[in-house]
Amino acid sequence: MINLFNSRKLFVKVICLMLFVTQAQAQVKEQGIIPQPFKIQKNNTVFTFSRSSGIAVGNGIDSDNLTFFNQYFHQLAGYNLPINKTATAIKLNIDSANVEQPEGYKLSVTAKQISITGHDQAGVFYGLQSLVQLLHADARKMTVEGCVVEDHPRFSYRGMHLDVSRHFFKVDAIEKWIDLLALYKINTFHWHLTDDQGWRIEIKKYPLLQSISAYRDETIIGHKRDSPHVFDGKRYGGYYTQEEVKAVVKYAMERHITIIPEIEMPGHALAALSAYPQLGCTGGPYKAATFWGIFDDVYCAGNEETFTFLQNVLDEVLPLFPSKYIHIGGDECPKTKWKTCPKCQKRIKDEHLKDEHELQSYFISRMEKYLNSKGRQIIGWDEILEGGLAPGATVMSWTGEEGGIAAAKQHHDAIMTPEKYVYLDYYQSLYSSEPLAGGGYTPLSKIYNYEPITKELTTDEAKYIKGVQANAWSEYMASPAQAERQLFPRMLALAEIAWTDKGNKNYAGFLKRLRYQQTLLKQLNINSANTFDEITDSLSESAGHEVQLALNTTLPGSNIYYTTDGSAPTLKSKKYSKPFSITASGTVKAAVFSGAKQYGHMYEKDFHLHKAIGKSVTLTNQPKGGYNSGDAFGLVNGVFGNKLYNDGQWYGFNGEDLEAVVDLGKVQTVSQLGINILKYHWQKMWEPQVLTFETSADGKTYTEVYRQTTFNANGINPVHASIKPIQARYVRVKGTNKGIIPPGEYIAGAKAWLLVDELIVD
Ligand code: ACM
Ligand code: ZN
Repeated sequence: MINLFNSRKLFVKVICLMLFVTQAQAQVKEQGIIPQPFKIQKNNTVFTFSRSSGIAVGNGIDSDNLTFFNQYFHQLAGYNLPINKTATAIKLNIDSANVEQPEGYKLSVTAKQISITGHDQAGVFYGLQSLVQLLHADARKMTVEGCVVEDHPRFSYRGMHLDVSRHFFKVDAIEKWIDLLALYKINTFHWHLTDDQGWRIEIKKYPLLQSISAYRDETIIGHKRDSPHVFDGKRYGGYYTQEEVKAVVKYAMERHITIIPEIEMPGHALAALSAYPQLGCTGGPYKAATFWGIFDDVYCAGNEETFTFLQNVLDEVLPLFPSKYIHIGGDECPKTKWKTCPKCQKRIKDEHLKDEHELQSYFISRMEKYLNSKGRQIIGWDEILEGGLAPGATVMSWTGEEGGIAAAKQHHDAIMTPEKYVYLDYYQSLYSSEPLAGGGYTPLSKIYNYEPITKELTTDEAKYIKGVQANAWSEYMASPAQAERQLFPRMLALAEIAWTDKGNKNYAGFLKRLRYQQTLLKQLNINSANTFDEITDSLSESAGHEVQLALNTTLPGSNIYYTTDGSAPTLKSKKYSKPFSITASGTVKAAVFSGAKQYGHMYEKDFHLHKAIGKSVTLTNQPKGGYNSGDAFGLVNGVFGNKLYNDGQWYGFNGEDLEAVVDLGKVQTVSQLGINILKYHWQKMWEPQVLTFETSADGKTYTEVYRQTTFNANGINPVHASIKPIQARYVRVKGTNKGIIPPGEYIAGAKAWLLVDELIVD
């Protein structure tokens, strides 16, 4: 995706940048290595390069390791460093006795010598990456500050995923992307090659995968939750030839990156079915999807030809990818079609399976056996746990951490990629100026603070957590520039949680180093987002049951100024020093100032105070889905959930009813009731069938005072009920969940979500 480079070779561009970077670096005077090494100590010396500073390459070191560094150095310095066995200035060695950990290295820089000792080839390579990040160029005088670094990764699996089905990124862009993975010591690239919206890898035995499955008729414009859907009318697609794939795999290997291909099954198969409809339960016709989501038409698990097809596909995929692991998907496979398919039902009977979940397990286990017979292991998304885990499968835990925990407890390897923390297609900022993204909210700090080894695991079980990965689904990344803005700088946080020892992590320190790296990324022409220092907030309940607002910025040397009267904050406004109570309805506006200069976007939040603020709320059913932070205060905190439902304000009930009672503390006059309902059928969010408000003076006998059964807006439906004034202490709101999503609707047969926020009483 880094097509912003004009040239194919990263270094060429990297370099010009370096001259600039080094100036910035000189100002920062920080050694900004990301990920933070295990140990790093400065020694107050400086190594100065000259044209005669030779590099001695120890026995067995692959020259590829050095190519990357040399090109970089040449661009920066304007000359090459001579390579010769007897050189003393720079020494590279492999010594697995001296450096015990795989991929580890020691780097020593003194006035006289730079030496890098790697445990293995990768170790030498990573030592050189650290050296690259330490280079200073000043009027073409090349120096490195003296230091001793001892470094090795925390996790052996350090992954980045990229979806090329929803949007296709050309080889050039992929290679530039790989360069950046290498620079930040990420060693695995999970290449999501097939999905409903396009098949992206050439399979010679099935030419229709190239002529039909690689293309869709058009693409949705805007977010899929919007209704009705609007399309661009333009055919879209592309695929990688096998020759291109081979070149990319080689390119990655030279940078110590393993590529794991994902050939998705049994769901997310519409593009394949569009060319080979006999592989679906109904026989089609099918079309590659033109919008995003989960689709009912999947591979038929009762049809032998499905397995023949997938095995033939894998027969062509395996020689291209030397990786031990092959990802077979396994996520989001609706069972709707299998339930009514005679072939699938016959399979269930013949194989003595309990249900369609066990049929999925049969499917995955059968493909696992095939891949094992070819010497490979499978990775699947956490849904492969349903109906029983295939014997040697590695679980990629995305819906939460539970899948990884369950796998580790069953002594299966697991990789943590929980969407709540490490999905880079989610928003990184809540400001309305953010470009369209997938949903969710995974700011830089949240990714950085994610800990892949959860406390549910014993020390022994924790060993099965092989590492961590961030995922980049490309629905809303239509161009390389858009992709870059989503991926950077958050990918650097992922790099650090994957590499750096837990005890060495420190967000403030990371941000300091990141500011140096941002200069580097800018010079590399990477469209990295810079919203991470903008104001964030948190709401809490004061001892007096008032709403307290806390504001925060991480911008060094800055101050926050705010207003509560709707005016734009200036240096003359109130200076923020600590959380404050909101005592009246209105808008809080705040801005960060560095000196006299405003930084970033203005923060704005509307507060709607009412009689139920901070009062006790009892919920009959507990909310699910991580839409809010957990307690019921968010229902009575005076802040309305946003239309992106990613601000922690909404309460989601999955297939269950809303029933909430607020206790106002004493009997009083009530004349206004309200609540907000979120309706997005394309997100499985359904309005209640019936919504009622009831009041009570004693908490026992309730009187219905309001009823509503239609909610027409796609999005937020505000309910405002003016009632005849009544004396009440308790207010009960009930909303009946739609239950199971009806036939003909998106994801029919699944449980509907009922999302509500702010229970308003006045
Ligand atoms: C996934 O995000 N569906 C794995
Ligand atoms: Zn079937």
